[in-house]
Amino acid sequence: MSDKRNIVLFGFMGTGKTSVGMALASKLGMEFVDMDSIIEVRQKKSISKIFSEKGEPYFRRLERELVQELSAKKGLIIATGGGVVLDKENISDYGKTGTNICLTAKPEVIMKRVEADTARPLLKGDDRMQKIKKILADRKELYASVQNQIDTSDLSVEQVVENIIKIADQ
Ligand code: S3P
Repeated sequence: MSDKRNIVLFGFMGTGKTSVGMALASKLGMEFVDMDSIIEVRQKKSISKIFSEKGEPYFRRLERELVQELSAKKGLIIATGGGVVLDKENISDYGKTGTNICLTAKPEVIMKRVEADTARPLLKGDDRMQKIKKILADRKELYASVQNQIDTSDLSVEQVVENIIKIADQ
């Protein structure tokens, strides 16, 4: 494990946290971890199943515990789940050992990126665009409270990676 500060990627679904995080980790030679994947492996269940069988509050507790665990480490690129910002303590804990960056994207772009994806419990059912807009509006201030922001709507993964490296070097 390197002793570098973590780089923590926040943002709504479809803003690029996982694809950017993986590319960034390989470019910087750092370890990439994805919160949703860790939770799925440990619970031996998909996020969707955890939501339907145990409920959202249970999932949020797992997230909170994982934030406490990961923010005590160093040298990680961390892709958070889109709802991690719901608990402000998560943002501040990650900020103690890492550079926090929120990826954003226009609702139309998010819609396109999550189009073929049926695994996201909060977007289940009809009228996805309405759901995306509603959740984005509800969480607007939370996402905006993350120290660094990058709009990924019109950027390639490589361009986002370059922007993050500039921010992390400061
Ligand atoms: C959620 C986002 C998902 C996942 C869960 C809840 C949210 O993560 O944690 O479905 O509340 O926005 P991704 O942002 O990685 O899709």
